[in-house]
Amino acid sequence: MLKATIAIIASLLTFIPAVLSATDPIGGRYSFSLTTFSPNGKLPQLSHAIKATTLGSPIVAVRNLNGIALASLQTLPSPLMNDNGTPTFFKITNSIVLGHTGVNADGRVVANAAQRLAVEHAFTFQEEIPINVLLEELALLFQDYTMKAGVRPFGCSIVVASANDGIFAIDPAGTVTKVDQGVLILGKGNNEENIGNIKKSVQDHHTSQDMERILEKTIKENFTEFGVLSNCQSVIIASASVKEDKFKSSKISP
Ligand SMILES: *[C@@H]1O[C@H](CO)[C@@H](O)[C@H](O)[C@H]1NC(C)=O
Repeated sequence: MLKATIAIIASLLTFIPAVLSATDPIGGRYSFSLTTFSPNGKLPQLSHAIKATTLGSPIVAVRNLNGIALASLQTLPSPLMNDNGTPTFFKITNSIVLGHTGVNADGRVVANAAQRLAVEHAFTFQEEIPINVLLEELALLFQDYTMKAGVRPFGCSIVVASANDGIFAIDPAGTVTKVDQGVLILGKGNNEENIGNIKKSVQDHHTSQDMERILEKTIKENFTEFGVLSNCQSVIIASASVKEDKFKSSKISP
């Protein structure tokens, strides 16, 4: 009798994971809290984290010869709110701004780490942190959270914009990409059509103020389906001109 019960329980235990992986082919039994390789060589938790970043509020970043402009649209849970409490853009140095999308709380942690790195570098070396040092440290931070025990990957992608060196993106895997084409969209609305439209409207003779206006118009025309636009506060803009080498905007968190 006892043997039979044990046999039944044992067969149930082998059956349950099979059912789980059959109902959730992407995650399945290899998708618990740790990032673990699946037999086909993928890291499902990482794919899920990257997916989470594509659901975040849109961030648009453009660069031409004169400077850089960034804009973002807030996604709010209720029309009665006009701020979600987490700044999208953070000032890292006078000439570097960081923006994040995806899981807001995760983005805040990364932004905080970036600000701390900048302060520590300035204190130790009496200079602003060079962009390559900042990118390397942040990429290592992201990568750390794909391997360490008891943690999950960050559910956010970030854009790092430097007035002199251009626009860079880092994804949850820790991959750093330099944006060569002059236009980057993170989060919702990242598609060829929107990138093409923005490329067409931003020309090399435009000043950074022109680009701010163009981004505001673009977001109001073509991105509002991805967020809320009850008042103009919902479009958050930051820009820098190469000449001044400085980002300015009241919407950047100091
Ligand atoms: C919005 O999208 C339409 C259709 O693709 C396009 O013609 C238009 O130029 C876009 N507007 C802006 C400001 O990018």
